Amino acid sequence: MLTRLDWSAKTASFKNGCSPSSPGDSLEMRPLRLSDYHRGFLQLLGQLTLVGEVSFDEFKERFSAMKQCRDTYYILVVEDTGTKELIGCATLLVEQKFIHSAGTRGRVEDVVVHSEYRGRQLGKLLVETLTLLGKLVDCYKMSLECKPENVKFYETFGYAPDGQLFMVQRYKD
Ligand SMILES: CC(C)(COP(=O)(O)OP(=O)(O)OC[C@H]1O[C@@H](n2cnc3c(N)ncnc32)[C@H](O)[C@@H]1OP(=O)(O)O)[C@@H](O)C(=O)NCCC(=O)NCCS
Repeated sequence: MLTRLDWSAKTASFKNGCSPSSPGDSLEMRPLRLSDYHRGFLQLLGQLTLVGEVSFDEFKERFSAMKQCRDTYYILVVEDTGTKELIGCATLLVEQKFIHSAGTRGRVEDVVVHSEYRGRQLGKLLVETLTLLGKLVDCYKMSLECKPENVKFYETFGYAPDGQLFMVQRYKD
């Protein structure tokens, strides 16, 4: 699907001309694989939020449950093929609805770039790619939640505050 993206429709500009097929020297952007458990995927997510203890068996079970939900979870990663470690990831979650003519709504989630690789256009590459992917799979709307300090970053891709409040209740950390 990444090869079918209309990259000419991107809204952000890229200083180093990086694209989904060419994210940078020794870097590869691709869908998440089961073996990425051993390539630091959870440690990378740990730079975004609390991950907790997740064994390989638990990871495998969740990975396969997500995969069975066809056309729902699109998890993109960037691997440093030199170190064989993941250094960026982001998820597009496609929610099926009855409203909007039984349409689908996309949510961008869990965007993180490894602290040592920030500022190399990779965050932009991940979000732009998922945003275009949402369009490709025919979402009627894309949305995301972010901290106030990241609003400017997401505006680059066409997202805008819509005046609604995001409400939350936590049962666990
Ligand atoms: C936010 C994050 C994903 C950005 O990734 P990154 O790879 O460093 O970003 P990029 O190199 O692609 O940045 C691209 C541009 O966005 C700008 N930018 C980055 N973070 C920004 C922010 N928080 N606010 C405004 N602009 C920002 C950069 O200055 C850069 O501008 P330029 O292209 O004009 O030079 C990264 O800082 C990160 O992982 N942060 C910790 C986790 C997090 O906060 N995730 C987002 C959850 S909502």
